[in-house]
Amino acid sequence: MMHLLVTGGAGFIGSNFVHYVLENTDHRVTVLDKLTYAGNRESLAGLPESRFELVVGDIADAALVDDLFARVDAVVHYAAESHNDNSLDDPRPFLDTNVIGTYTLLEAARRHDVRLHHVSTDEVYGDLELDDPNRFTERTPYNPSSPYSSTKAASDLLVRAWVRSFGVRATISNCSNNYGPYQHVEKFIPRQITNVIRGVRPKLYGAGENVRDWIHADDHSSAVLTILEKGVIGETYLIGADGEESNKQVVETILELMGQPADAYDHVTDRAGHDMRYAIDSTRLRTDLGWKPRFQDFRAGLEATIAWYRENEAWWAGAKDGVEAFYASKGQ
Ligand code: NAD
Ligand code: DAU
Repeated sequence: MMHLLVTGGAGFIGSNFVHYVLENTDHRVTVLDKLTYAGNRESLAGLPESRFELVVGDIADAALVDDLFARVDAVVHYAAESHNDNSLDDPRPFLDTNVIGTYTLLEAARRHDVRLHHVSTDEVYGDLELDDPNRFTERTPYNPSSPYSSTKAASDLLVRAWVRSFGVRATISNCSNNYGPYQHVEKFIPRQITNVIRGVRPKLYGAGENVRDWIHADDHSSAVLTILEKGVIGETYLIGADGEESNKQVVETILELMGQPADAYDHVTDRAGHDMRYAIDSTRLRTDLGWKPRFQDFRAGLEATIAWYRENEAWWAGAKDGVEAFYASKGQ
């Protein structure tokens, strides 16, 4: 049994991880989350008080972080500004949280000798051509495209430096695109599902040929837990479930599953610097640590996700109008 500090545990993947840990282990969890626009208390509603606590605060608050690190056995670091489109609008919060916030956690890990797992993204590797036979591996050079992905790359490099220079006991994972419950409506899949629920046509950036490598949030959680328990200190592990789909394919599947004509969507202004394709080779994680994904039927996973958004309109309705006003102002 461990006492885990989960940063960003009120966000999409962090909250899925907290649910996963409380359901599948005996660990205790303390969440540190600033509750930005992306954090939602309701994603953590009903969890057992004997094993779970939410602390509202900033990962860049060194005194608060120091106090929490003194109380826990390990830290899983999800907190971040996570949306590429927002980073194109205002990069500053991405530097504050993703870079300075991660630095603040690393200094605390160094002072308290606490094990830390840093959750990162495949976007640090840049993008692939559609016909490139290669996929990202742990040896792919860093080549981030956006303000978001460049700050995540910076945070990964800080973790590596703190391991080598100060002996901090850290691991890193870089995962592909997640889907599942509790994802903010600004993101691609929830935006389109909630558009259809509202009677609005889905919005596809550019031609819609861009490819993402989808993984269910529960598979990301099981991978992170595996790395926390069995990962080699200083190592990086790529997490992916062989789920490549073009954005156009995803929108057409959502429309079909929601009873709409497959062409009932609009092409809108493309994202600046839009990465073409991500694809993960997760051989190291599978062979070295014995992990494998459980949810590889993307269509069934999407169906369950659609059902969740239909059943939980109160969870997302408050954010929807503001998100759509932001996109409309950019022709998206
Ligand atoms: P999210 O935006 O849904 O959640 C981020 C959470 O962090 C929110 O609860 C927010 O309140 C909190 N937060 C932000 N700034 C904070 C600060 N300064 N102090 C404390 N808390 C703060 O993000 P997500 O999609 O759940 O992503 C979580 C992590 O996983 C990120 O590090 C992201 O880079 C990484 N990741 C995401 C994906 C994906 O597909 N979404 C894939 C790979 C990696
Ligand atoms: O690969 C991991 C990354 O996946 C994470 O690091 C990020 O935190 C996460 O947000 C996600 O990044 P993407 O930029 O790939 O996700 P997003 O949901 O914003 O967009 C997915 C794809 O869909 C992308 O090609 C852009 C496109 N898109 C997005 C929106 C919001 C559309 O075509 N229409 C839309 O309305």
